[in-house]
Amino acid sequence: MIYRSPVLYNLLMRVLYGKHFTDRYQVVSKEIPDGASVLDVCCGDCFLYRRFLQARNVRYIGVDNSPAFICSGQRKKIDVRSVDLKAEELPKVEYVVMQGSLYQFLPDAAVVLKKLRAAATIKVIVAEPVQNLSDSHVKCLAKFSRWLTTPYGATNYSGERFSEESFTRIIKEAGGAQQVCTIPGGREMVALLDPETVS
Ligand SMILES: C[S@@+](CC[C@H](N)C(=O)[O-])C[C@H]1O[C@@H](n2cnc3c(N)ncnc32)[C@H](O)[C@@H]1O
Repeated sequence: MIYRSPVLYNLLMRVLYGKHFTDRYQVVSKEIPDGASVLDVCCGDCFLYRRFLQARNVRYIGVDNSPAFICSGQRKKIDVRSVDLKAEELPKVEYVVMQGSLYQFLPDAAVVLKKLRAAATIKVIVAEPVQNLSDSHVKCLAKFSRWLTTPYGATNYSGERFSEESFTRIIKEAGGAQQVCTIPGGREMVALLDPETVS
């Protein structure tokens, strides 16, 4: 549901992250130098670009499979492309970013990480929530949250989420991990990975 409305999505993210809402973008943005080429995989409402990268001459491409997010980005004259990450290849860039999206590809998250590393020439930045409403002990809240975040066109969405342990483990297993840390507020973790082929 929330991937059908960029406005609703942004509002919900602000409520969920509260005073740490901008921190989640700042942590990623500081890894990217001015003028770099960036691929934002599962870019959503492109908030990272609009608020933190646009003014810094970054050459940005966003990819997503939600028609609402793609149209909204293109209306804002942002290079947002329709890509189904499960089926399609990614363009090659210096920095590949994926924020808050890896869980959607479980149980195939390792395949996705490999794809991200293959697309980057300098660095991969993966940020992932490790505190989730869908893990709530309140069953109806957990169920509602999973329903809200079902990806566009998904047929076998598990609704599973990462914990600190499972995220750290999959990043280590992916290879090339430089660093894993937690963002202020503790809701998300950020991992920096080397590209598949370090030049
Ligand atoms: C939770 S949102 C994250 C958006 C943004 N990265 C952020 O952190 O605010 C997950 C995004 O992944 C996209 N998505 C889900 N499955 C996808 C797929 N197979 N290919 C491309 N994008 C997908 C959704 O449309 C949605 O925009």
